[in-house]
Amino acid sequence: MLVLGIETSCDETAAAVVRDGRQVLANVVLSQVAQHQPFGGIVPEIACRAHVETLPAIVDRAMAEASVKWEELDAIAVTHGPGLAGALLVGLSFAQGASLQSGKPLYGVNHVEAHLYSLFLDPTVPEPEAVCPILALMVSGGHTLLVYIERWGRYRILGQTLDDAAGEALDKGAAVLRLGYPGGPVIEARARDGDPNFHRFPRGLERFDESTRTFGLDPRYCFSFSGLKTALLYYVRSHPEIFEDPTLFRNIVASYQEAVFDTLVSRVSNALQDFRVNNLACVGGVAKNAVLRRKLEDLAGKIGVGLLLAPLNFCTDNAAMVAGLAARPDAALWRDATTLDVCPDLRLGTLPSSS
Ligand code: KG4
Ligand code: ZN
Repeated sequence: MLVLGIETSCDETAAAVVRDGRQVLANVVLSQVAQHQPFGGIVPEIACRAHVETLPAIVDRAMAEASVKWEELDAIAVTHGPGLAGALLVGLSFAQGASLQSGKPLYGVNHVEAHLYSLFLDPTVPEPEAVCPILALMVSGGHTLLVYIERWGRYRILGQTLDDAAGEALDKGAAVLRLGYPGGPVIEARARDGDPNFHRFPRGLERFDESTRTFGLDPRYCFSFSGLKTALLYYVRSHPEIFEDPTLFRNIVASYQEAVFDTLVSRVSNALQDFRVNNLACVGGVAKNAVLRRKLEDLAGKIGVGLLLAPLNFCTDNAAMVAGLAARPDAALWRDATTLDVCPDLRLGTLPSSS
């Protein structure tokens, strides 16, 4: 099955061609980082305009790189949620037009399920049937979720963030530390020679009781990063000397990163003790981080479960994960998206009530 995937849910304009859900023939991603950088975060209006201007050429390039003609495609797959409404609309409208013109079926894909599927773009990883049940940590700029994947298409959200996403905590922390946007990669680089135990920043939701039970989820599997961000802000205000002393600065950056990852790992550890799984997995932009990958490796080794990490080139937003997922007959995707609307708050495993 040959699928063209299109992804425009946030600030990456992406198209890819994937054969049989596993073989990536082309993967083109245009990041808009430079356009958003002056504002310290993503500006939705800029994202939409950039998608409109670049998507047709990105799709053409993916088709050319894959050496695939439109008539050879079996389907087109596009992200229709969750994400920025205007940004999603650009990709979905383009895909609907392309489907109409080419006569190819159009699938509507959930961005979070596509991130989970990115695990299987690693050719050495067996099919989902062989590795489920999985406990998956999905960590990106917009999402922080702990998902129990009983089998493909059957997901249970065990925990989620109550406020900021992990990637957002890194991005906002980097802004406070005057490191620019996006924060994750620059924090990882600056933290490299720092002491992660130099200062203990709060971990969020450290005490659990009924008042912290939110969205009907067990707080032992949930995350909170807004207090951590505020703690960093106050620390920086009362210690302006960190900007003058490179060693001190690296120690603070490392300590902040440690607080984010320690929070993630402790919730994953709680869930691993309660749920019997074959594999622990991590996907999303933050999964690119070598420190987090190592921590999860240690945890998986300690508990005695396998570890599946999204390939480094498919952690951040891309369309290969969208096209790949479309080949799974058991995916929770919309199989006729020709008249579908965008769904900015689409939940994992749910389909919109009307098309
Ligand atoms: O998955 P993604 O591209 O977009 C969303 O769906 O949100 O993730 C982007 C996030 C940003 O917050 C960015 O700071 C973070 O992933 N990120 C990283 C690294 N590279 C990107 N975080 C930690 N370490 C990295 N190396
Ligand atoms: Zn994403």
